[in-house]
Amino acid sequence: MQHKTVQQHPRLGMEVLQGCNLMQLTEQQVHQFKQSLWEHGVVVVRQQRLTALQLKEFAKKTFGNSTLGHRSKSLDPEIDPNLQSSGVAILGNPKGHTQEIVEKFAWQWHHDKDHLPKTEGLDMNALYVVMLYGVEIPLEGVDGQPHTTEFLDMVEAYHNLGQEHQQQLESMSMYHLSPIFSTDGSDIPRKMHPIVSTHKVTGHKGLYLGSDTSIPVGMESRTEEAKQFWQELFQSVLERTPVYAHVWQPGDIVFWDNSQVMHTGIPYDAKKYRRVALRVGVVDNTYI
Ligand SMILES: [Fe+2]
Repeated sequence: MQHKTVQQHPRLGMEVLQGCNLMQLTEQQVHQFKQSLWEHGVVVVRQQRLTALQLKEFAKKTFGNSTLGHRSKSLDPEIDPNLQSSGVAILGNPKGHTQEIVEKFAWQWHHDKDHLPKTEGLDMNALYVVMLYGVEIPLEGVDGQPHTTEFLDMVEAYHNLGQEHQQQLESMSMYHLSPIFSTDGSDIPRKMHPIVSTHKVTGHKGLYLGSDTSIPVGMESRTEEAKQFWQELFQSVLERTPVYAHVWQPGDIVFWDNSQVMHTGIPYDAKKYRRVALRVGVVDNTYI
């Protein structure tokens, strides 16, 4: 799909808390950090050295006690224990060059966890914050360019559409499937969400598209048409809205507000490079 990629974006990717240790923030710094996140959608804190447990503690202290995906696992002896804690996912190929990459499916555009909420009381406009901590970064992607994660500003995407298109979408909703479990598209969709959402804190309107397995309400039995609808809508977004690419440095923690941005991972050669990234997802329950 044709689109423009930028490494500097007017809204996304602002660097915050320069020179700070995340473990030693004042209450005021935490407050400002959260304001920046809601305002910018994606913020970056650089040069951190944390354990998995510390990252989780920061998430809890900052956003409340609702980390998703708490499954207690025994420690993997092949991986540094500092990188392991329940509720913290290790992405990449932490065991070495030839290992199959964890979460390869993330190499397509999506909102995280769009098939939620399974958790009671958690609606789809929830402030679901994802933090991704780059511990070890591949030197390059398969395209020979620096290793990046890409983001789309879905508030900007909504505003870049024509008025008629906006109005048409305002009345539509989609069913959302998890990209992990969908096979041939014939599964019964799990969750419904309006295509146009209003952000809980900023009040800005944005598009919520999930992934290309999302099916507009009314097209449940017409999977080809549903797929085409999604692809065309996403194409309109990409044509009008620049993609922001975050170029990773070891020690970066990228935080994004999943309710206002989409993202995609970029492939790298796992036979040549090792990537270790820690991910924590948390629903902010301090605002609700
Ligand atoms: Fe993701």
